[in-house]
Amino acid sequence: MNDCLPNPLAPSPARTSRLTPLAWDPAWETGDPRLDSQHKALVTGVNRLAFAIACGQTQEEVWRILSFLIVYVHTHFRTEENLMAEKGFPELAAHADEHERARAYLDRLVNTYRAGSTSDLEELVSFLAAWLTEHFLGTDRAFAQHLQDEAGPLRP
Ligand SMILES: [Fe+2]
Ligand SMILES: [Fe+2]
Repeated sequence: MNDCLPNPLAPSPARTSRLTPLAWDPAWETGDPRLDSQHKALVTGVNRLAFAIACGQTQEEVWRILSFLIVYVHTHFRTEENLMAEKGFPELAAHADEHERARAYLDRLVNTYRAGSTSDLEELVSFLAAWLTEHFLGTDRAFAQHLQDEAGPLRP
């Protein structure tokens, strides 16, 4: 991917880096093209931010990537929640709560970074990477299952 970040496939100690890039996992596919493309864009955005930090890019560049990523997170949550409402997903309220907690935590980290705390930037990247992985595999998968159930069995 680049020279500043460790290769995610390399053996430790590189794997233990807090800024190890995320590699797209086919297990994260939901089957909905719009959600999948947004999820992939989120992974790319997190990796771009990790790259910018690891490579010591200017604060202006880091801020540009970070701002885009945060707006994209908000857009994605809205898209997903709207689709859940449209498809009558019964766990929408709990799912939206999970989004809201992540959104609030991210906003707090962004605000402290804006106030001058650069250490919160790494925390933000590692939180996002871990949260997205867990969320894609857990609650987003439950919605993917709902979409599949709604589509019914494949006909021959
Ligand atoms: Fe979600
Ligand atoms: Fe999602």
